[in-house]
Order: sequence, then C-alpha cells, then structure tokens
Amino acid sequence: MWNEYYSPASLQKALEILAEEQGAARIVAGATDLLLELERGARKEIRALVDITRIAGLDEIRLDESDVIHLGPLVTHNHCAGSALLRDRAYPLMRAAWKVGAPQIRNRGTVAGNLITASPANDTISPLMALDARVTLASTRGERVIPLREFYTGVRKTVMQPDEMLVDIAFPAMKANQRGTFLKLGQRRAQAISVVNVAVILTMEGETIVDAAITLGAVAPTIIHAEEAEKFLAGKSPDDSVFEEAARLAMEASRPIDDIRGSAAYRREMVRVLTLRALKALRDGTEKDDTPPRPILLWGKAKESTSFSEDARHGEEDVIRTTINGKSYTFTGAHDKTLLQLIRDYAGLTGPKEGCGEGECGACTVYLDGKAVMSCLVPAPRAHGAEIVTIEGLANQERFQPVQEAFVHDGAVQCGYCTPGFIMSAAKLLEERPDPTKDEIRQAITGNLCRCTGYTKIVQAIEDASKKG
Ligand code: FES
Ligand code: FES
Repeated sequence: MWNEYYSPASLQKALEILAEEQGAARIVAGATDLLLELERGARKEIRALVDITRIAGLDEIRLDESDVIHLGPLVTHNHCAGSALLRDRAYPLMRAAWKVGAPQIRNRGTVAGNLITASPANDTISPLMALDARVTLASTRGERVIPLREFYTGVRKTVMQPDEMLVDIAFPAMKANQRGTFLKLGQRRAQAISVVNVAVILTMEGETIVDAAITLGAVAPTIIHAEEAEKFLAGKSPDDSVFEEAARLAMEASRPIDDIRGSAAYRREMVRVLTLRALKALRDGTEKDDTPPRPILLWGKAKESTSFSEDARHGEEDVIRTTINGKSYTFTGAHDKTLLQLIRDYAGLTGPKEGCGEGECGACTVYLDGKAVMSCLVPAPRAHGAEIVTIEGLANQERFQPVQEAFVHDGAVQCGYCTPGFIMSAAKLLEERPDPTKDEIRQAITGNLCRCTGYTKIVQAIEDASKKG
C-alpha cells in the first residue's frame, strides 16, 4: 500500500509535498481507482498519498463572468449529478456523471480523478472533450493550461507530470442554441464500465446545424472526436437521412478492440446506434426525458464539505483520531489500511461487511461525514477528524427501526450478509427523500448487491418503511 499519508490544509502545501517526494507521491481524493491499483500492487512507485479532500474551496462548480464553467478538483460525480447549473448549461456532463458507478461511488469519485485515470472508457472525458474543456495543472514550478484534446497520450497516459496537480477544469457553458447529450452502453444499468459511450453537442441556427461535436469513448486508445461526422453535419438540416450518414461516419471513426466487454464489431455497430439515438433525441428535444431532475445522491442532510485547518501526516507511529457512531476513537498503526479494515479490525465493529473489496457490492456501506460511501475504497487516515456512522450507530436513529422491521416483515433478508449495506442505503435515502418512488428506491440501491433474496422484496421493504416513517 503506502508508507506516508498526508492531509494538507492548503493547495500550496500539497504542491510542496508532491515536489519533495520527487515522483513517489500521488494526489488522492476519491481514491476509488487508485486504492484498487495500490492494493493490487500495480503502482509500486507510489510511497506516499496526498489527500486533498479537506482543503477548503476545491469542490466548487461555478460559472464565471465570461460564461465559463469551472469545476474544482474535488468536485465529485454526485456534485455534478445534483447540479442544476450543469443540467441547464452542460447537460452531457451532468448525465455522464450520473451514469458513473452507484451513489456511494459517486460520493467519492471526482471528475478530476476520472480525467487523470485516463481510461478510454471513463465516462466524463467524452462530454468534457465535446464541451471543449481545458485543464489547469499546477506545481511549485507554476501553472499551465492544456486543452483536454491534447491531454492524453495513450491508454492511461497523459502529459501530466508527477509533481503536478489538476486544479481546474473549465469549459464554455452551453448557449441557448446548443443541445447536447451523453449516451452510454454498459453491461448493466449501474455499476458498469462503458462498452461504448458517445457525447454529442449540436449548435443550431433555426433549422440548420451550424456546428457539431461528437466524441466517442471506449473505442480507441483515448477518447476521440468523430471528425468526419462533425464536418458532415455542419450546414445540414436535422433529417433522419442526414443523421444516419453522420452515425455511419462516427462508426467509421471508431477503432475498438475485442475485449471481455464486447467485440470490436459489436462496439462499432453500437457507436452507430448510440450516435443516431443521440442525434434524434436532440432534434426531438427528448434527451432529458429519462434523467431525473433530482437524482438520488445518498447525502441525506449532510453538510457540503469538511475542511482541515492544520496539516496532518500519518506514518506508522501516527494516530488517527476519529468519531464512530458518536464515540471518540484513537488508532495507531492503521495509516495504510482501508476504512473498512479500521472499522472492523481496529474498532471491532463488524456490522459493515467485506463482500468484494472493490466497490462493487455495497456490503461495506457506511456514512462518512454524512454521505454514504463504500468503506473498502476509503483510506483509513481519511477518518482522521471525520465522523463515521456504521450500521451499529443507526440503531438509535429514527429511520432505522421502520427499515429494519420492514426487511423482516417483507422477507427481504436471507443470509443477511448484504443487509447492513442495504439498510444503510435505505435509511440515507429516507433521510434524503422521505417519500421515494419505486424508481428512486431502485436508484438508491444500485450500489448494493444481494446474491440470495432478489430485489423485489427489498424494494418493497424500503417502500413500506417509507410509509411508516
Ligand atoms: Fe466494499 Fe464490496 S463494495 S466490500
Ligand atoms: Fe444473502 Fe443478500 S440476503 S446476500
């Protein structure tokens, strides 16, 4: 794993640590990708993590006076999914963020991290490239601004240097004569890596397309523009025959490979299908029809963010001081563990379970500063100065009792291994949305898997609990 874990209280301090560690330190925010790579031994060059999640002011989404939208490096996927500004002025990005993982993953994973991981299947890259985004990279040597088009050099490769940190993502807000969307094909509706994704933005003058941006994900070593399709659309009317030819040209631009998620031939055909669907939805004005205006975030009534006023550093001898279920704890020797390990092995609270250890099953769901997260993907030192709630701590909360009773009454439990995770998600949902629809209940538990009961009774139990609340 890692030897040192820093939690700087300022951006300058974070940059100084990166410079001092000479390539052996990495910025960590959500950690949803990096933690897995470290656990699998894939990043042996990294000896120190620099956790920036408590630096104040880095999680803002703002529109500046030049009509440019800025995302700070701590903006999570759920910040984007819940942003009215992005829904209105950068809908392809809002929709892509909402399609990532599950609520617990979206509460930790950042858009900046998604860009830097540089997988061609990462969902937020396609819309940001279509929006003509640029990123600002900072180091103790100064700052540089790079168009996203020039940021990638290959699969999981970027121009970013080890001492640099991405500090800003900026792009022009979409104008009234622009429409855009993002479509993704995965092997299931949530917690799925894109087999193919497509972002499309059309600029219209009356009934004429004057400009088009079409970007394609998971079909080449990096996200690509379908340039011939973009050129072809300029000056055309939004007719079916025009769209069919543009979709064919987009398919021709793709260069996918065969892999476990799909064959190259299937991916090429799906590029055509998704591009055509996106173009028609934009013309018909239906692109927002299946995106909820207020997606489920599993934030409940959590505060927006918590910041540190002093730098913290955690090595072997250093302590982690935290609050779990309202009780203060001090731990040593846990600086290189996960939050799940800290809770189970150090605090002795075995309610949160390890099902997969990879952010897939939700059995480890806890609340971190009020938001639901997968504790197997959180570094333990993140608990320093934070408030954690586990299933044990829910017992006295008003939403717990009806949920627990409904699970028993409706037969929503068999072996029970997944149940703490489901109840954590359900209780947080009812805090956020006391009277949820069935669809909202399903959204809330997309990050929780059950191998025995099936989901009908679980959804029913949560619905019944909401009526008793
Ligand atoms: Fe954490 Fe499965 S999601 S153990
Ligand atoms: Fe057994 Fe869900 S009840 S895994």
